Amino acid sequence: GPLEEVTLPLFFGWFLLSSVQEKIRCTSMDFLKTLDTLEAFKKHMSDFTGKPDKEVDLEQYFEAKGTLHCTTKFCNYGKAEGAKEYAEKPAVKNFYGSIFELSLTALFVTPRVVGARVTLSEEQLVLWPDDAEKEAESAVPTAASLPLGSRAHITLGCAEGVEPVQTGLDLLQILALQQEGQQGELVTEMELGSLRYYGEGRWLLSLREPMCAPACFSSFYN
Ligand code: A2P
Repeated sequence: GPLEEVTLPLFFGWFLLSSVQEKIRCTSMDFLKTLDTLEAFKKHMSDFTGKPDKEVDLEQYFEAKGTLHCTTKFCNYGKAEGAKEYAEKPAVKNFYGSIFELSLTALFVTPRVVGARVTLSEEQLVLWPDDAEKEAESAVPTAASLPLGSRAHITLGCAEGVEPVQTGLDLLQILALQQEGQQGELVTEMELGSLRYYGEGRWLLSLREPMCAPACFSSFYN
């Protein structure tokens, strides 16, 4: 019967409290609106449209995906490698249901996704799986050499046909470029922070003031 087996969740993560979700969605929408009007963005618009003179409305281009959260471990109901081991970690059990303050330090946009980078504290890193970056190696070959927690992010929206898992991969790709010494092209200083372009439609806004987001460490079943 159903009570005999404990089913692992689809994923564990930090779920942003509803009060801050709206604020972050608004900030990200404002950012997309501003980015869309920049000449520098228009110059590289074909990264998004595939055609030289076609316009793109970024606010329409991305589709929001449910409750805002920062995934720690994708378990796929136990089918993902290391799911059971993660669920049994003492830190995961001890902190389940606790509120944390996440620090959002950048917003980024690619032709596939829009997301926020989360910079984890030492305490938060104990909930981060050791192999989260390494697992991205097939998409980002140098991912394993990036610091633990580099992949931490919140998916804010996906282009049509793109799965949210792409957000962490696109973030790692930008961080891998930075690690290789590519600082990107400084495009402009915005009110929120400095905007850099990394080629191939990759834009990163480093926030002057990190956004603080209270979030509950928990899990999601569908
Ligand atoms: P993300 O954390 O970037 O938002 P889905 O709806 O596709 O089943 O995904 C559920 C959640 O788990 C999403 O938040 C998604 O991405 C994350 N996710 C999906 N697949 C993976 C994976 N292979 N590795 C890490 N996270 C994943």
